[in-house]
Amino acid sequence: MIIPVNLDKNGYDIIFERGALQKVSDLLNLDRKVLIVTDDGVPPEYAEEVRSVSSDAYLTVMPAGEESKSFKNLEKICHTMLQNSFTRNDCVIAVGGGVVGDLAGFAASCYMRGIDFYNVPTTLLSQVDSSVGGKTAIDLDGIKNIVGSFYQPKKVIIDPKVLDTLSKRNFACGAAEIIKMAVCFDRKLFELIEEKGVKNCLEEAITGALKIKAAVVEKDEKEGGLRRALNFGHTIGHGIESVTGLFHGECVAMGMLPMCSEKVRKRLSDVLKREDLPVDLSSALRRYGVKPAGSNMAEKIAEASSHDKKMINGTITAVRVEEPGSFRMEKMNREKLEKACMEVVS
Ligand code: GLY
Repeated sequence: MIIPVNLDKNGYDIIFERGALQKVSDLLNLDRKVLIVTDDGVPPEYAEEVRSVSSDAYLTVMPAGEESKSFKNLEKICHTMLQNSFTRNDCVIAVGGGVVGDLAGFAASCYMRGIDFYNVPTTLLSQVDSSVGGKTAIDLDGIKNIVGSFYQPKKVIIDPKVLDTLSKRNFACGAAEIIKMAVCFDRKLFELIEEKGVKNCLEEAITGALKIKAAVVEKDEKEGGLRRALNFGHTIGHGIESVTGLFHGECVAMGMLPMCSEKVRKRLSDVLKREDLPVDLSSALRRYGVKPAGSNMAEKIAEASSHDKKMINGTITAVRVEEPGSFRMEKMNREKLEKACMEVVS
């Protein structure tokens, strides 16, 4: 299936096909210098699949993890391109999850003021969310994505076959982002997941999420309004993530729950449990062996959440879901935010 992202000059296709990675030479222009960026947590055969069919390939392998989104690694990638005489006609390919995509995409956007970038996401989370929409970035001083650009890829290759090697925990994190999109934008997709679970309707779940993401990005490429809805669960989720270090999708799962009506919360909680995602913080900390950061966790999470999304005049704007398939924006002051965080903690 081809899902187009219509953005005038910056438009591109998302190719969704089981086995697409083996056809990458037909799908991408690899008859030029190609810098493949991957990390040591990605099975090496995926990058090798691309390297073996490229005419002049270079490979950069980063350590897995958020710490790789650094100026040091940006310099390393640009240096590799410079030393090997990459020109504006050459390209960068990310083969990996969100970290690799963010870093490689940002390097592609900077080198010679922008060279072609292809994304081959290998985690469910990057397949359904971060590989589409052109957000690229590195971190600075512990602040995620603070230096970056909107830079659309020339093509995104999504091969669900690569998910066969993904850990259960990482699969669940991707499921959380699919559920987020369904509950905000597509009642039918939410009901399908509610009935079957993500694994049992994987193709519909991935393509459904991709269609939502493409439509949102087409309407609001630079996150002036509508695209902010994709941050559902992320205000509190980012707070939990920075205080506990639990995985992003797990934190988003817990962060969505206080932002729903009672009715949706019950249904969403059941859906998340079925995907083996946490619905309360204490059980998640116990399960993953994380020590609680002191007694006032809700306050700490609220503090981190308000830093992350920058409070303006003492309020933060977050996404709220009253009915599956729709959302509204809600202004929250610090007290309201802390109350919501309390619901996750207790
Ligand atoms: N991951 C949210 C966005 O791309 O806007």
